[in-house]
Amino acid sequence: MRLLVLGGTAFLGRALAHAGLERGHDVTCVARGRSGAVAPGVTLVRADRDDPSAGLGGVESDDWDAVVDVARDPGQVRRAVAALAGRAGHWGLVSTGNVYADHSVPGADESTPLLAPRDVGGEDPDAYGGAKVACEQAVLEGLGAGRTLVARAGLIGGPGDTSGRTGWWPWRFAHPAAPGRVLAPDALGDPTQVLDARDLAAWMVRCAETGTTGVVDAVGPTTTIGRLLAASREAAGSDAQAVPADPAWLAEQGVGPWMGPRSLPLWLPVAEYGGFAARTGEAARALGLTHRPLVETLRDTLAWEETRPADQPRRTGLDDADERALLEAWASRRDPSSARGSR
Ligand SMILES: NC(=O)c1ccc[n+]([C@@H]2O[C@H](COP(=O)([O-])OP(=O)(O)OC[C@H]3O[C@@H](n4cnc5c(N)ncnc54)[C@H](OP(=O)(O)O)[C@@H]3O)[C@@H](O)[C@H]2O)c1
Repeated sequence: MRLLVLGGTAFLGRALAHAGLERGHDVTCVARGRSGAVAPGVTLVRADRDDPSAGLGGVESDDWDAVVDVARDPGQVRRAVAALAGRAGHWGLVSTGNVYADHSVPGADESTPLLAPRDVGGEDPDAYGGAKVACEQAVLEGLGAGRTLVARAGLIGGPGDTSGRTGWWPWRFAHPAAPGRVLAPDALGDPTQVLDARDLAAWMVRCAETGTTGVVDAVGPTTTIGRLLAASREAAGSDAQAVPADPAWLAEQGVGPWMGPRSLPLWLPVAEYGGFAARTGEAARALGLTHRPLVETLRDTLAWEETRPADQPRRTGLDDADERALLEAWASRRDPSSARGSR
């Protein structure tokens, strides 16, 4: 199969290209080459998709059995569809669960109402979901449902996750800031879902091979924050214990959920987001999406984290001194005598 990946120099796109190669396909990627290198054995065609006059580096003159696009800019997607719809067999679009207008209901499926489409590119997080709705519409209008797979991905993790979300917990258990203790949100029963990028990529390539189509949520198996922490501890081979702290207290200290600096990743405020990481995902499983064990994802992500340069700042989590101070403050709050003793 001749597989064209629009992207391929970052986390998921590289995994898609790698999965194509592993399954014996001829893989070409289109990107500027700014985010990183493509997987070894893949052809990179350089093009800037923000420049409408520049085209796609010539790939629009070839025929492709399958195209997969990771873009989040509706203009980029529309131009790619216009250039390639007549030359592509199957089209996969990596979309997101952020397309939905509501995230409060656990077990929700693809019948959840969508946000209004927004014709906005760039990195504005508030525009992201609506922009992906517009991307989906552009592909479905240009290719038709009979040639299109839209994969609305939930949280994607695994080696190469530069957001730092899936690496944080196994890395922290491997390198506790305070001996034997890891600060965690007291949200251990809350749901979470981690989709290994390699599982998503291999499934999208298999769908391209078989002409499998649909508009489906592609999410990891639903688990809990508590089980994620236990699997992270196991992946790290660590004896450290999680110290669950009240989420409201963490918020008062300026520690945020989900991702980013000064956060504890992957937990979310339940009232608004109780369904965000608990979508059913049944439709994608019926189309063949399978999952490796969570502990394998976490172990491999930790191995990748250990290869990161030590001076490269983490995009997510707490620095050691900050976490030690927070652990101390939390212990003091629960036990005022320990606060007196520690000063
Ligand atoms: N991470 C998650 O948890 C999560 C969850 C749900 C959905 N998703 C979706 O999963 C996908 C992630 O893709 P990814 O990991 O490969 O990362 P990404 O950072 O979204 O990838 C962007 C890719 O597009 C290329 N690109 C960006 N601007 C370009 C331009 N102007 N011209 C040409 N190429 C351009 C980049 O390469 P260059 O910079 O080299 O040009 C890179 O290869 C996205 O669709 C995202 O919305 C992610």
